[in-house]
Amino acid sequence: MAAVFLYLVFSVALPAIIFIVHRSSRCRRLRLPPGSLGLPFVGETLQLISAYKTENPEPFIDERVNRFGSVFTTHVFGEPTVFSVDPETNRFILQNEGKLFECSYPGSISNLLGKHSLLLMKGNLHKKMHSLTMSFANSSIIRDHLLVDIDRLIRLNLDSWPDRVLLMEEAKKITFELTMKQLMSFDPCEWTESLRKEYVLVIEGFFSVPLPIFSPTYRRAIKARTKVAEALSLVVKQRRIESESGEKRKDMLGALLASDDDGGLSDEGIVDFLVALLVAGYETTSTSMTLAVKFLTETPLALAQIMCCWGPYGIAGFVTVPYGSGHLSRGSAVHVTCNFLVQLYSLGFKKEEHGQIRAKKGEGEALEWSDYKSMTFTQCVVNETLRIANIIGGIFRRTMTDINVKGYTIPKGWKVFASFRGVHLDHEYFKDARTFNPWRWQNNSGATCPANVFTPFGGGQRLCPGYELARVELSVFLHHLVTRFSWTPAEEDKLVFFPTTRTQKRYPINLQRRDRV
Ligand code: HEM
Repeated sequence: MAAVFLYLVFSVALPAIIFIVHRSSRCRRLRLPPGSLGLPFVGETLQLISAYKTENPEPFIDERVNRFGSVFTTHVFGEPTVFSVDPETNRFILQNEGKLFECSYPGSISNLLGKHSLLLMKGNLHKKMHSLTMSFANSSIIRDHLLVDIDRLIRLNLDSWPDRVLLMEEAKKITFELTMKQLMSFDPCEWTESLRKEYVLVIEGFFSVPLPIFSPTYRRAIKARTKVAEALSLVVKQRRIESESGEKRKDMLGALLASDDDGGLSDEGIVDFLVALLVAGYETTSTSMTLAVKFLTETPLALAQIMCCWGPYGIAGFVTVPYGSGHLSRGSAVHVTCNFLVQLYSLGFKKEEHGQIRAKKGEGEALEWSDYKSMTFTQCVVNETLRIANIIGGIFRRTMTDINVKGYTIPKGWKVFASFRGVHLDHEYFKDARTFNPWRWQNNSGATCPANVFTPFGGGQRLCPGYELARVELSVFLHHLVTRFSWTPAEEDKLVFFPTTRTQKRYPINLQRRDRV
């Protein structure tokens, strides 16, 4: 018995004690940002996971900011990590990419992305490929080439919707189709649909336990990734042949093949690059679409301002939207409309945004760039959705050297997490920060927002190259949704933040077509 006790002391307890003592004396020497490294090995990972399983968007960060301040030390996912919820520090991290900080993903994520993905590239190659991607998704390209397809594919999708949909699923399908068109000029067909099925399995892998032995989801994702890569590499081969015979297409693949002309990317490199672009825009844009609709539904004044069309019952289409504690009938709608109008005018409401755009157009006529530019309130809704519930809550980086921040030292090789959502939800920067209030973004509302405070698309060398594209996709989607349908949530659905920002039930809604309203 004594031998067993001694064995336990020497093999388990003693190393743990040495680890803790060594760790805390090293921390004192280095003057790390305040915080707690938690238990040996697991650190505070379990607290982090259980916190984000609640409805509260930032419980883990809130608690530690209250105790330690806006830059604190913790230990999550196997590594000591410094969290920053300070806009200045976040900006410092973003602006020093490649000099003091570098991006860092676990091997499991790199396997799914592919080693030639833009997200994993570094140095000059990253700069070159980032600017190529930016130039492919900038305003003039969207205006002159992409908008027409965005408008057409969104309409096609919405026209095929039944009376009840899982909005999150539909938004994902739309986003995938748009990306396939933009990257490789494919219209939706059986082939793209079967690719999408494999691709969905790849995406599931990003949110699974990344250990092949334990996680069938991760194993399936790796297999599916191989299938997606095989399918895409056939496309690349075919397009290379076409390109060599002088046939050029104005899509991302065309740009990548052209860049290959000065001795750049292999077929494998191009495939990795395409897969990463599919991944980067997929969950992000589709989740934002779904959440914008959810927040609008729960904010009737904003919904009225964005969509309403005058009809025989006052604000037509609005009559079925829940208001306050109950649902409106047509009779009561007239009454409530008066209150609404008073409130809407007091918020600077002039005329419905999308109804007005539609009124100037023939049936089925596509949106133009000037229409998009006139969607000013929609941009407020998009900003507010990204502020409150961006799927990218922040970014991880690794320090390349010892770094001084606010009088503390972050040791070389440590992880840092610049939390965007923590800043976006801070009352110091946004009044009533946890309330969805799109009017805060209107020019005349007096909202001040320095550039480093609102960073839903990151910044610096890794600024999201799809930021304008995502805004256009979201705006066009909202336009066609609100001008075609009224809707009600089919079930109560909660916003959750783990393993990613999403609604628990994929936001089921019942739809009514406007021409039948
Ligand atoms: C609402 C939608 C979107 C959000 C919120 C979003 C957000 C972000 C953020 C925060 C980053 C920075 C990551 C970092 O610094 O490590 C990023 C990077 C990136 N995004 Fe987006 N994104 C969105 C849509 C898109 C779309 C539609 C595309 C497609 C072109 C895209 C492509 C990328 C790529 C390729 C990167 C990596 C850039 C690099 O590492 O150089 N994103 N995105």
